[in-house]
Amino acid sequence: MCISKPYFFAVLACLWAALSQPVWSQEYEHEPIRYSKSDPHNRVSQLIERLESGQARLQYDGKMGYLRSLLNELSVPVSSQTLVFSKTSLQRHRIAPQSPRGLYFSDDVYVGFCQQGDVLELSAVDPNLGTVFYTLDQNPAGPPRIVRQADNCLICHSSSQTKDVPGHLVRSVMTDTAGFPILSAGTYRIEHTSPLEKRWGGWYVTGTHGPQKHLGNLTIEGNQVPREIDNQAGMNLKELGDRIPSDRYLSAHSDIVALMVLEHQTEAQNLIARSNFLTRQALHYQQALNRELHEPEDHVWESTKSRIKSAGEPLVEYLLFCDEAELTHRIQGTSGFANEFAQIGPRDRHGRSLRDFDLETRMFKYRCSYLIYSPSFRELPATARDYVMRRLWEVLSGQDQSPKFAHLPAQERQAILEILRDTLPDLPDCWRAEPGT
Ligand code: HEC
Repeated sequence: MCISKPYFFAVLACLWAALSQPVWSQEYEHEPIRYSKSDPHNRVSQLIERLESGQARLQYDGKMGYLRSLLNELSVPVSSQTLVFSKTSLQRHRIAPQSPRGLYFSDDVYVGFCQQGDVLELSAVDPNLGTVFYTLDQNPAGPPRIVRQADNCLICHSSSQTKDVPGHLVRSVMTDTAGFPILSAGTYRIEHTSPLEKRWGGWYVTGTHGPQKHLGNLTIEGNQVPREIDNQAGMNLKELGDRIPSDRYLSAHSDIVALMVLEHQTEAQNLIARSNFLTRQALHYQQALNRELHEPEDHVWESTKSRIKSAGEPLVEYLLFCDEAELTHRIQGTSGFANEFAQIGPRDRHGRSLRDFDLETRMFKYRCSYLIYSPSFRELPATARDYVMRRLWEVLSGQDQSPKFAHLPAQERQAILEILRDTLPDLPDCWRAEPGT
């Protein structure tokens, strides 16, 4: 066969482009983010320092290795346990419906545990770096070492599915009886706008939810997914019974409310990280441009403003639960997660908190995410935070009546405003004014 020269070079160029894609798209490895080269500051890096100075110690136990002790040191509640049995993550050979992977989380750290796993997998929300990944060898010999990881994890944890930043992932896939994903049936990236009927493929779910359908607790015989899925046996399970060897986990639950919070939270954190990165990159670019064109250092370009807006607006909409999936029946978990989560507060003078659940028609009673209190939101670059805070004020004060926010009635907007005035330090001055003044 004869291949023309231009054709040959075109194919070569395409191949090279395809192979180079990850390097090109990892803009965050360059100034000003320098993801891999920058020192992390997060809950796990703090634990590493405490371990090194002898202020903290991790205990190994024969059944689950360092898991229990690690969760204790990181203040991650056992009630947050969710169980995923699709072979969709790092230690896939350890994961199956009889030996699901356990995930545990708090507001800013996540831990993954597999039966007989070589490592515990950790990810920490880091105000400057989005998400930073670590492993801890499940090896009783020698002092426990938590090691920062990058490419091993970023291969899955940095793509359009994580908003192109090193971030978190929650997926829903149909699986066969061994836990292999049946990709021909489609996979969904899940967050709080995803309808329940698409959620929890490949996950165990304990809790009640009335007749609302979902794909949890379900495996498919063979690799053909029937058109009509009958998941009656997987609905409203209060316990998993002998589906899993529950004595090999810290709890027997995969709590439905913990799942929903995990899904809300992971996407919000990716959007906060995206807003952080895009803003810092835009400001960095602007600085170089001003230098190049001999403009004053503080000259602000329209293109900078529009980049900050295009990262900030989706965050505003997400924090205010635009397009949240509607609940038609009451959701109730089994592990006590909801109570523990709500108790964290903070509460305003009337006892109200952004962590109060509704779980009848939506997740939360007051639809503004509690992640507004998180260090990564607080430490957004000032221009990004100012943008988001101004937009939140416009919506909550009632100035912005656009259809996007029509799900928030005036009373709820007012309640959120009052809660934040009592509980969020460093509010911009405009927030103190009464709406309409
Ligand atoms: C093959 C793809 C893949 C690789 C590689 C991978 N992960 Fe994940 N990870 C996932 C998926 C998918 C999820 C969502 C839950 C699931 O399906 O198991 C996840 C979830 C997690 C979670 C729970 C928080 C979240 O984002 O949902 C942690 C913690 C985690 N991974 C840590 C790691 C660490 C640490 C590494 C590297 C040492 C790593 N992962 C490598 C695919 C991967």
